[in-house]
Order: sequence, then structure tokens, then C-alpha cells
Amino acid sequence: MDPRTNPYNPGAGLRPAALAGRDADIEAFEILADRAERGLLGRSIVFSGLRGVGKTVLLAELAGRALERSWLVVQVEAEHTQPDHFSRALATELANAARRQRSWFERTTDKIKQALGSITSFQAAVGAEGVSLGIERLPGRADTGNLQFDLVDLAEIVGAAARDDHIGVAVFIDEMQDLTAEQMSAICRSCHRAGQAATPWFVIGGGLPNLPTRLAEAESYAERLFDYRKIDRLAIDDATVALVEPAADQHVAWDADATQFVLDESGGYPYFLQQFGKTVWDAAAGPDSIDLDDATIGVAEGQEQLDIGFYSSRWERATKAEREFLRAMAPDNGEPSRIGDITERLNKARTQSLGPARASLIGKGIVYAPEHGMIAYTVPGMADYVRRRDEDETE
Ligand SMILES: Nc1ncnc2c1ncn2[C@@H]1O[C@H](COP(=O)(O)OP(=O)(O)OP(=O)(O)O)[C@@H](O)[C@H]1O
Ligand SMILES: [Mg+2]
Repeated sequence: MDPRTNPYNPGAGLRPAALAGRDADIEAFEILADRAERGLLGRSIVFSGLRGVGKTVLLAELAGRALERSWLVVQVEAEHTQPDHFSRALATELANAARRQRSWFERTTDKIKQALGSITSFQAAVGAEGVSLGIERLPGRADTGNLQFDLVDLAEIVGAAARDDHIGVAVFIDEMQDLTAEQMSAICRSCHRAGQAATPWFVIGGGLPNLPTRLAEAESYAERLFDYRKIDRLAIDDATVALVEPAADQHVAWDADATQFVLDESGGYPYFLQQFGKTVWDAAAGPDSIDLDDATIGVAEGQEQLDIGFYSSRWERATKAEREFLRAMAPDNGEPSRIGDITERLNKARTQSLGPARASLIGKGIVYAPEHGMIAYTVPGMADYVRRRDEDETE
């Protein structure tokens, strides 16, 4: 069928035509926001899940909702290669968010003046003065250049101005597992302070499944600080909606067996649903239905595209030693592997040399440590991919 009207969007952070199965997560945020606007407390939210489950898309949806509520909205991404970018990005985004708050410049109360002043202080302290609020710095607040102190001040001061306006401050942080321990601790402290001062300052984070553990390592009370929500593959009904609804909007119907086939092959993973939806659509003869033959051809094509893009982009970045490590994980079929087992599979003599491969694979975002002594792929289906490769190579 016509690729011009193809409604599926495989890709990083691309909004799906049907955002399926996230109603409870959206509702959690809406409750938080409604409460905040009434001056009631709520917990910040941390979403965690594997690559391609829809964390970025969900954060963007929630940021859109916060913007519609005229909240101060900050959207940043952590980058493990450039940790000092984070403070500057935060400062610039906060200044931008304040600038969008037109009324803050029309009727400037003391609290608003302090809020704008503290953001200006923070910008100067971290060297992010690109966006000017045209306001003097607030002396002695948010101006140390140390995120651990400054973020607490901002949560208190900017939060207080927002509270007076019956709005909130929502700081969205994607790839949050890549923050340094100090940055995580600063985030925790800011939320903790907001709770004590009853200011509507919230962090909405997204990251890999090890994010909750990393936060708890940074601050022991982090366990109780956040509402932790797992973002995972879609349940059958939701996966069906994700697949069928975008086509139905274009007056194209999926046959039941074609739907079932794609649901099975995708395992309900959002990225795979989009990928297979797209290639099945392109493969289908049309004009207004998709049958099992279309699905079979389209999924094979989609699998090839996943191998070329999603998987091989990761494989190609791995060195020879790292690939051996990835291969040694495959027998666990995507379940976390014990480092001890990997050592054994790679034969004991190489024990010492495992550390660097492990660390650099984590740095590259290809694996993560779900708990001490364990390691897992960050992408679903990687074990099968590694096996497919080995089969191809031995043929
Ligand atoms: N709820 C959903 N329903 C249908 N499709 C979805 C849903 N959420 C995400 N997708 C699709 O899945 C793909 C991946 O989404 P996204 O980039 O948000 O994932 P992610 O969890 O942020 O992945 P990564 O960890 O790689 O950053 C996109 O193509 C998106 O359109
Ligand atoms: Mg993402």
C-alpha cells in the first residue's frame, strides 16, 4: 500500500499514531498535576524500561500536557559522555520555561522576582547565560555552581512562585540512568526539599531498568521519594490497538490472523509493533485490508530492517572482546546473565579481562546491570539476534 499514507512510526522518540497502553501512567501524572494545582503534595515519577518500549514518547506526551496546563516545563536528556552539559541544559531550559511565563514579567511579585533571580543566578553559576531573563541575580541563592545545593534552592524558590500561580514545575529527564551519582543525588535532594517546603516541583524521569537502583544508591531515601513505574511491552489488547487503530483511521482493516501473527512476532514491544506495522503496510497489496500473506512478507522485511538498524548499530559499536561477551550472554535468552556464568562460558582464564568489556558495553548503552553481579541486554530480542548472526556466519 502507499507508503505516503503509512501510519506507523518506528524510530527513537517518534510519536505513534496510537499511544496505546499508557493510560494508567498518564493518569498518574494527571492526578499529580491536579493535586499540585490545588496545593496538594505528590511524588515525582520515574519511568523505567528497556530500549524501545516508549519512555521518550511518554515523557513527551506528559510534557505536552504540562505545557497545556501552563506549567514551567523543562526537558533535558542526560548524556554520560558529557556530564557537565546537564547543569547548563537545565539552566537554559529553566530560563526558557520562565520566559514562556509571560505573566511573570507583567505583574512581578516578590516571589516571581526571586524565582527569576534564582534562575539567573543558576545560569551564571553554571555558565549558561545564553537566554537572558533581564533580571538581576538573586544573591546567595542557586549560585554555587554545585548542583547539589543549587537545585534545592530552585525547587524551593521557583516552586514557591509556581505555587502562588497554581501551576507547577515539571523537570523531564530522559536517559536518566546516565546521570552521575552526584547529579542523581542533587535531583533527589531537590524533590525532597520540594516535599518539605510543599512546593510543586516535580522530576519526571525516564531511563533503563537499572534507574531505580542507581537512584537508591545515590540517596537511600530515593526508594520512597518517587513513584516508580515500569514501562514494558504492551498487553495483548493494547498491542492490538497500537497495530490496528492507525490502519483503521485510514480505512484499512487487519485480518485477525495477520494481527495475531504480528502480535506474536513483536512480543508486544512498541518499537517492533511500529516496525512491523510499517513494513507490513508497505508490503500489502491493499487497498483496504491486510492479510496473513502480507503480514508474513512484511514481518520478514521488518526483521531485516531491525537487524540492519536496531541491532547491528549496537553490534557494530562493540569490539571483538565485547562481542564475545554479548555472545556469552545469549544462552540466557534475554533474561539477566550472571557474571559468573559468563566468565565460565568464556573460559575462566579470561576472568580479569571481563571487567573492561562489561564497563564499556554499559557505557555504550548496550547492556546494563540489573543488580550486583548480573548483566542484561538493554534491547529486547538481542539474544536471538546474536544467534542469528552466528548462524549466518557459520553458513
Ligand atoms: N504506547 C505506545 N504505543 C504504540 N507505539 C509506541 C508506544 N510507545 C512508543 N511507541 C513506539 O515505539 C518506538 C520507541 O519509542 P521511544 O523512542 O519512546 O522508546 P524509548 O523507550 O524511549 O526507547 P530508548 O530507550 O531507545 O530511548 C517509537 O517508534 C514509538 O512510536
Ligand atoms: Mg528514549
